[in-house]
Amino acid sequence: MTEGSFIHRFEPAHAAGSPPLLLLHGTVGDENDLLGLGKMISPGSALLSPRGRVLEHGMPRFFRRLAEGVFDEADVRRRAQELGDFVTEARKQYGIAAPVAVGFSNGANIAAALLLLRPDVLAGGILLRAMVPLSDPPPADLAGKPVLLLSGQADPIVPAGNSARLAALLSQAGASVTHRVLPAGHQLSQADLTLARDWIGSVEAKAA
Ligand code: MLT
Repeated sequence: MTEGSFIHRFEPAHAAGSPPLLLLHGTVGDENDLLGLGKMISPGSALLSPRGRVLEHGMPRFFRRLAEGVFDEADVRRRAQELGDFVTEARKQYGIAAPVAVGFSNGANIAAALLLLRPDVLAGGILLRAMVPLSDPPPADLAGKPVLLLSGQADPIVPAGNSARLAALLSQAGASVTHRVLPAGHQLSQADLTLARDWIGSVEAKAA
């Protein structure tokens, strides 16, 4: 990997046919955070898990924000490009296919930005508690890409209208979006794991 790349963990695949996962942690997390989640939802998948390069009071994130839910959009754009370049390079280094992103909170928001700004980088995404990352995204071609968006009905950070707008934005770009609103807050629940696991299974079955 070139200098200035992302600190990351990589775990090779244990089963042929399982899509590689790009694990994107939330604020306060790091590259170790979602490895367990990745193994639970797709036990055979290769796992690529970078650490966000922006620090907020010492805590890693994937882009700068001005306040909770208010993003520095120039930074979102720049960081999504950096992450897209990292994934492209990591795919060559580790010999993996385009990954399905699994992002939580800030990680889900950068995954949404990556889908909109670099549609070729990801094979799809599981966006857990995501928000619209850009007020004026460029037109993207996400034709046929599967996206699972799981929102919390009582999420104090993501208003219901915002996640509905994200679902509409991704659908308009051609993605095949499944949006479920769960009886949960911002934190993940057992239902998130079950739905994510079943969804990955259906994506694998279609790809086979
Ligand atoms: C963000 O900054 O991406 C969202 O506010 C979610 C969070 O990280 O709390």
